[in-house]
Amino acid sequence: MLPHLRDSTIVLRAWLPSDAEWYACCTRDAEITRFTTDPSNLTADDVVAAINALSSNPRHEGFLVADARTGSRLGNVALEHADGTGDVSYWVAAEARGRGVARRALALLTRWAFAHLDLQVIRLWTHADNAPSRAAAERAGFTRNRSGDRLREVKGEVWPTVAYELRRRTPTAAPPPEG
Ligand SMILES: CC(C)(COP(=O)(O)OP(=O)(O)OC[C@H]1O[C@@H](n2cnc3c(N)ncnc32)[C@H](O)[C@@H]1OP(=O)(O)O)[C@@H](O)C(=O)NCCC(=O)NCCS
Repeated sequence: MLPHLRDSTIVLRAWLPSDAEWYACCTRDAEITRFTTDPSNLTADDVVAAINALSSNPRHEGFLVADARTGSRLGNVALEHADGTGDVSYWVAAEARGRGVARRALALLTRWAFAHLDLQVIRLWTHADNAPSRAAAERAGFTRNRSGDRLREVKGEVWPTVAYELRRRTPTAAPPPEG
């Protein structure tokens, strides 16, 4: 079972079937349509099926991002992982953007993932024109990995995409004993 991950402002929790209508509604947003792989015609039933599939997939963690104080829904952050590598994806509801939700969600998720999953690197990619996503990734500590940049076919279009990564920190070696 997924834990609740929280900082002073947001909490990441598991998705519930009762969140499905909200998720489907959010994906009608123009920026989510433009910059994510989510189809814009998702129904609540589609989302319930995806939520149910999450619970039986040990390689896919999906969290709802909520306001830590009120519990109101703010966004989505997910991690797929295999063979020491994770791939993260995210969106924030239009009305909750521009106040650090994505940066905080990425920081919470990546810290938890490195502590609890056997990962060496977490990657993300974004449309080259997606300035807010690029900024959120960089603010959460991701660095550019130009070798991962590529053209990707998404929803029948070809997108120029740029890649970022966050590597597990190796513990600093202890200094040799003196004397
Ligand atoms: C990308 C997205 C998740 C960012 O969410 P957010 O919660 O608004 O991001 P944050 O508030 O954490 O902002 C992160 C940084 O982006 C910056 N930023 C926001 N809008 C920006 C813009 N239009 N141009 C450049 N930087 C921008 C913020 O100033 C912030 O940097 P700062 O901390 O130095 O001020 C959100 O815009 C979104 O959901 N977009 C549609 C879906 C999407 O693009 N998902 C990502 C797919 S890879």
